[in-house]
Amino acid sequence: MLPQAPLQPLNLRWLIAAGVEVAILRLDLIDPLISGNKWFKLTHHLAAARNAGAEGLISLGGAHSNHLHAMAAAGKRFGFSTVGLLRGHPVQTPTVLDLQAFGMELQWLGYAGYRTRHEPGFWAPWLERYPRLHPVPEGGGGLDGALGCAEIVNQARAQLSDVGWDDYDGWWLACGTGTTLAGLVLAEAGRHKVYGAMAVPAGHGVAENVADIVGTDCPCRYQLLDASRGGFAKTDAQLLAFISACEAQSGVALEPLYTGKALLALQQAVEVGHCPKGSRMIFVHTGGLQGKRASGAMLD
Ligand SMILES: Cc1ncc(COP(=O)(O)O)c(C=O)c1O
Repeated sequence: MLPQAPLQPLNLRWLIAAGVEVAILRLDLIDPLISGNKWFKLTHHLAAARNAGAEGLISLGGAHSNHLHAMAAAGKRFGFSTVGLLRGHPVQTPTVLDLQAFGMELQWLGYAGYRTRHEPGFWAPWLERYPRLHPVPEGGGGLDGALGCAEIVNQARAQLSDVGWDDYDGWWLACGTGTTLAGLVLAEAGRHKVYGAMAVPAGHGVAENVADIVGTDCPCRYQLLDASRGGFAKTDAQLLAFISACEAQSGVALEPLYTGKALLALQQAVEVGHCPKGSRMIFVHTGGLQGKRASGAMLD
């Protein structure tokens, strides 16, 4: 059973000055370990694993992966086995130490080996080696990942009156693969627009991934914006100063690779008048704070 993420007013001076109201859906608060969008993304993969009679999950990620972190923590909490296929060569990041402590078995693929993950034959040897595990795409993606994220929309809708709203104008959230955004787009079915602030530059497959998941039958309303600031995991002084100021004003902790970049992209949209006075947006806090322990490192 998914815990309820609180919907809270986001009080920031630049929002108040522009007359734009933002409520923040705090997925970062649903659990100390299975945090952010990750639990939502895992729910349908877990159901598929149960239906297939699998004993656990096998998935991929980097040495700071929020997705592997949540999956390993879920395995420990709910008693299923987990295997992580990791990018690169063995390193001991705070995330990797946690994965080991949670009992995840780690296989390091090197960089060249990890690059083959999209090739058609990639999974065959791993599924032969771990026949009782269910494969989950990188980042918990795919249609199953998106369907789990549809619940995010229900959680926010159920709490609108808590922030004094009866409706809203749209969603704003960070995208890595676009899976979470695709889940929101499917659940909204055109009722409200979903804005995706991409943490990776255009050309990294987000648009294609979202289009693959939502298909052509969906009455979709979404827009992707480049919020990467020159590259995934790239940070700069303006971004870091913006995050510090927003954290101080709102009391909400942000991290610089997803939520911080997405909020800065929203501020820039507000500044140029793309969110008119009186508009009401839901900003999704997608978590990722565990990755902040390795500052300046590559997260995914
Ligand atoms: C903290 C955080 N926010 C947002 C995202 C983006 O999610 P998605 O890959 O579904 O676009 C990720 C993962 O990639 C993440 O770790």
